[in-house]
Amino acid sequence: MCGIVGYVGPEPALSRLIEGLRRLEYRGYDSAGVALLEGKTVWTRKRVGRVDALDQALGDAPESTTGIAHTRWATHGGITEENAHPHCDGSTGLAVVHNGIIENMNALREQLESEGVVFRSETDTEVLPHLIRKFYTGDPVAAVRSALRLVNGTYGIAVVFADHPDLIVAARLGSPLVVGLGDGETVLASDPQAIVELTRRVVYLDDREIAVISRDGVKVERLDGRKRTADVTVIDDDAYGVADLQGFPHFMLKEIHEQPESIQRCLRGRLQLDEGNAKLGGFQMDPRELVRIERIIALGCGTSYHAGMTGAMAIEALARVPARAEVANEFRYRNPIIPRDALFLAVSQSGETMDTLGAIQEVRIKGGNVAGVVNVVGSTIARTAGKGVYLHSGPEIAVASTKAFTSQVTALMTFTLMLARTRNLSLEAGQRMARELSAVPAKVSEYLHNPGPIEAVADTILDARYVLFLGRGFSFPVALEGALKLKEIAYIPCEAYPAGEMKHGPIAMIEEGTPVIFVAPSDVHRDKAISNMKEVQARGAKLIAIHTAGDHEIAALADVSIPVPEVADFASPLLTVLPLQLLAYHAGVKLGRDIDKPRNLAKSVTVE
Ligand code: AGP
Repeated sequence: MCGIVGYVGPEPALSRLIEGLRRLEYRGYDSAGVALLEGKTVWTRKRVGRVDALDQALGDAPESTTGIAHTRWATHGGITEENAHPHCDGSTGLAVVHNGIIENMNALREQLESEGVVFRSETDTEVLPHLIRKFYTGDPVAAVRSALRLVNGTYGIAVVFADHPDLIVAARLGSPLVVGLGDGETVLASDPQAIVELTRRVVYLDDREIAVISRDGVKVERLDGRKRTADVTVIDDDAYGVADLQGFPHFMLKEIHEQPESIQRCLRGRLQLDEGNAKLGGFQMDPRELVRIERIIALGCGTSYHAGMTGAMAIEALARVPARAEVANEFRYRNPIIPRDALFLAVSQSGETMDTLGAIQEVRIKGGNVAGVVNVVGSTIARTAGKGVYLHSGPEIAVASTKAFTSQVTALMTFTLMLARTRNLSLEAGQRMARELSAVPAKVSEYLHNPGPIEAVADTILDARYVLFLGRGFSFPVALEGALKLKEIAYIPCEAYPAGEMKHGPIAMIEEGTPVIFVAPSDVHRDKAISNMKEVQARGAKLIAIHTAGDHEIAALADVSIPVPEVADFASPLLTVLPLQLLAYHAGVKLGRDIDKPRNLAKSVTVE
């Protein structure tokens, strides 16, 4: 959601803050703002729109070596300059940026208003500067601590005080914050991505902690006053890197084309071709522990949920362990039963999704066993799970997740192989599966070099009132993922259904010319899929089929045929999803959409 950056040091703060905001803009991009310390006052500037709009309004900004900045994804209050962060107290003696939601804002606001405070915005955040001011008697940390005691909800905050010009106070409950330690300078961010160019030595804040940030580094305390040692982590992973388009017009297209390499990175050092096995040391489970797992439940949201569904299908089919995927926020709030013999997999690209984090916290409270399937190293979900597998996809900047999906599926297939070998998968079958997985990157590359008539298909769906995605078995989560991409990027109305379920209702939506995109590789479901294709064609649908190369029957039946290279059934989602990613991309481009920052969305959803 929103992004926070802070800087204290000897250098001009503004350029570092703006650079940090640019690196975080994919997290939220409704409005942006900055606060700089100038003498005994706090100078602020805010603008609706992108960081560029803010940057252009900074001509008169003071020279300052301390500041905080924010890029917003609106929750409480519309997208206006007043509602943008930072928010100040009445005397502009302090400024606050905030990620998260203050749930008791109405009660706090009423109380403050009854005490004469005048609010300037509609946000929940604005209660914070007024509360901090109310408790401020010269000690910034004490004031922040007293204010936060009254707050219900979630926050990652950064506060600057006019009369403490070399200090930022930060605190966290449910919204991530990380402090970067430089040479005589210290930086703060809601995401390491914002600061890795300045330093890779970081201290992660945990929930209910408060940090006092100065040029000399950071002191961390618990909100209840207990001290804690600020353990330094060195980020040496490629999950953070230069957010560079490298000649591509958009990050989404760049990330689609990175998939041969990102899948390869996910597999590297993990497949044991001779033993027909896989080694995922991060799970910290030996075969005797793996064999005690009686069920697997994957938790995730959006694309990560679709990857979890795909993984669960593979686990059941190949390891013969009962498995299912659940939408994390639905799971969390139904007082779920946590079986003692289950392993929960938290699937997340960012590792910061609040719904997924909340779900695994619930699992852990109930004594359950959780492992992460996460891209961002050191993220909250990865640290909360404490074990699991990193995807090593590299930074995913486009809001629409593409390479993270294929890496999640790859990691889950690799886990499936490891689990299956502790059960009934033979050496020969394990060797075959390992070989099939290792062949995927080259097949992905082969497809991307010859993607078929994607742009022509994009042309035919631009004006569609409704597009239906269908698939059976492993291809159903792929259909869901294709429809999600098309909604996110092109805003074209569409839905996905299991192909066999289509005749129970959605078939009524089909009229002459309705595009139906059928994911139908040559797996056990192929013949039934062909029957479903004929059913929709009989009602006038325009059939676009994604099928295995060499399947001449489907190629001849479809109005448009998009072949993908042949792979094992379980690996087919890694191929069949590619045309759907490209289709959403090209449809979005043709419709003039904002590809990497689609409307209303943010890259990581850190509020509920
Ligand atoms: C995917 O294109 C979306 N941006 C979204 O559904 C995303 O997958 C979801 O919010 C989960 O994010 P995560 O993987 O970072 O947890």
